[in-house]
Amino acid sequence: MFKVDKNKCIACTQCIKDCPVHVIGLEEGKAVIHNEGCTECGHCVAICPVDAVSTDTYNMDEVLPYNKDTFTVGADNLLNFIKFRRSVRKFKDKEVEQDKVLKIIDAGRFTQTSRNSQDVSYIVVSEKLNELKALAYESLKQKGEAILANLTPETEHLKRYANLWIHSYNEYQKDPSKNDSLFFNAPLAILVTSPTPINGGLASTNMELMVNALGLGTFYSGFFLHATQDNEAILELLGLQDSKRLISCLVIGYPDVSYKRTAPRKNAQITWL
Ligand SMILES: Cc1cc2nc3c(=O)[nH]c(=O)nc-3n(C[C@H](O)[C@H](O)[C@H](O)COP(=O)(O)O)c2cc1C
Repeated sequence: MFKVDKNKCIACTQCIKDCPVHVIGLEEGKAVIHNEGCTECGHCVAICPVDAVSTDTYNMDEVLPYNKDTFTVGADNLLNFIKFRRSVRKFKDKEVEQDKVLKIIDAGRFTQTSRNSQDVSYIVVSEKLNELKALAYESLKQKGEAILANLTPETEHLKRYANLWIHSYNEYQKDPSKNDSLFFNAPLAILVTSPTPINGGLASTNMELMVNALGLGTFYSGFFLHATQDNEAILELLGLQDSKRLISCLVIGYPDVSYKRTAPRKNAQITWL
């Protein structure tokens, strides 16, 4: 429930004009919120100049007043930050502190979602990472063998992945501590789940930026996601019904690599209309 404190409301109507679902009206000179139809996006809380709007849906203690110094990032710095981030595949033998894990998840939690559904969840894997890894290697090996056993012109392009997965599995079996080409001995993985891929994807991107801001490193493991497909054992370990809900796997740790400059990219393909 969202409500307006009538004693504070100055009838400026800013909340009324900004409400995307038009559930706020002016009644007897005060803003009144009709909660049916409200998507609980919090715009009314954020825009009120006299802090008259509150809710018991969320923790109001988390609402921060605007502060120019701490709420802004220069455009050039932001672009450099995006350009300089790299997929990290070499990690120090060091655990990631829980407060940092929670900050990464907060970066996901405060990311926008369609219809403000906030339908993104997180699975933090550290203690069971070795168990998960073993299942993922096994799954990729099986998928690789299945591809090679039934090669067709349509699956020909998958042959190099199939060989890679079988090779990775064999190397991992020889020495798991040295030959981990799936998680690169990182201490942590955060899996982002959502029934809505765009929401999980957007949250993942902000989480990745936060990982970098914290001095940590990460890469998205597409191979791990592939390993989970139709794999009952992995889904059971993760407590998931459906692998389609798994949007991303961020493999995280302290980087044991440092980059000196940004990496080059193709020109953008832009259509100006
Ligand atoms: C959706 C997605 C899946 C990825 N899967 C893997 C993976 O399974 N293994 C890996 O080593 N890197 C993976 N990467 C990292 C890409 O290879 C990497 O982003 C790309 O080469 C560009 O390098 P950069 O991230 O350092 O800019 C993935 C990246 C994305 C966006």
